[in-house]
Amino acid sequence: MLQLRHYHNADLADVCQLASDSLRERYDPSLFYQLVPYWPEGLIVVEDMGRIIGFVFGVMSGPQEARILMLAIDRIYRGRGLGTLLAREFFRECGKRGVRRVTLEVRVSNVGAMRFYQRLGFLNIRRASHYYSDGEDGLFMMRYL
Ligand SMILES: CC(C)(COP(=O)(O)OP(=O)(O)OC[C@H]1O[C@@H](n2cnc3c(N)ncnc32)[C@H](O)[C@@H]1OP(=O)(O)O)[C@@H](O)C(=O)NCCC(=O)NCCS
Repeated sequence: MLQLRHYHNADLADVCQLASDSLRERYDPSLFYQLVPYWPEGLIVVEDMGRIIGFVFGVMSGPQEARILMLAIDRIYRGRGLGTLLAREFFRECGKRGVRRVTLEVRVSNVGAMRFYQRLGFLNIRRASHYYSDGEDGLFMMRYL
């Protein structure tokens, strides 16, 4: 059975594992701890029978602006609408905080994620040269709520 809920520090190991399996950028686990106090409602996980199979981590990046830092679904669960479900839950939390726009960045090679975000209503804003640690360009995207 699927369940959406907020992230807790006890989820750290599972979320780190999922992040390193799914995302090319490497994150220090301390980042996850540091994020919690700022906006706990912006950190959401999806579980299947107690196992974390997806998560979205977002932060408030301005008085009315939120930023998605990471969003990932376990490989074997992709293409079933779970990414969309998590994103919509995140937008709902954004609505409660008075957020007017959501921003994010994707690697220009991550065409699947770009399509995913475009389908959710994100617009391409600009390309940032050498944005990632390995030198790849990033695409900045934005969606009004
Ligand atoms: C991007 C990601 C979160 C999408 O999650 P998902 O659960 O597979 O997405 P959904 O099933 O909700 O897909 C919704 C729509 O997005 C689009 N989409 C999703 N993945 C896609 C892909 N790889 N290629 C093209 N379009 C894709 C499709 O149009 C899909 O609509 P459809 O079901 O009508 O085909 C998932 O592929 C993932 O974890 N990728 C690795 C991590 C990553 O790149 N994260 C984004 C950068 S932070």
